[in-house]
Amino acid sequence: MSGNKIAFAADHAGYELKCQLIRALNDQGHEVLDLGCDSTDSVDYPDLGHLMGEAIDNGDAGMGVLVCGTGIGISIAANRHKSVRAALCTSSLMARLSRQHNDANVLALGARIIGVETALDCLQTFMNTAFEGGRHQRRLEKI
Ligand code: RB5
Repeated sequence: MSGNKIAFAADHAGYELKCQLIRALNDQGHEVLDLGCDSTDSVDYPDLGHLMGEAIDNGDAGMGVLVCGTGIGISIAANRHKSVRAALCTSSLMARLSRQHNDANVLALGARIIGVETALDCLQTFMNTAFEGGRHQRRLEKI
């Protein structure tokens, strides 16, 4: 188990952005678990969302990043898994609040919705923001 790893998964629509984000994290010395897909050939986003769900459920990764065209379908699939709290974000404010208030452990991004700079901004914020606990913990328990 390597729960401090950050896992990545994307469908064909998110493949290029996934590669850009992984390159950025590798350059910063982060260990990354790439769950696929491996090209722009068409695949079904639920398959990748479930791979992420299994990686988080099993403790193979402590955090994850999902990318599809909108970020919607792949996050819906991942959120079916018990340990996953996937947050679809389009700004670093959403990424920050998803960590502070929701203790989100998976960041979902839409490659057809945001550009690479916004995606990187979301990712850096997501990785560097802590959960606030307190009243938010009580609410999480109700999920
Ligand atoms: C694929 O065309 C597209 O439907 C998918 O990437 C995603 O946007 C689904 O939610």
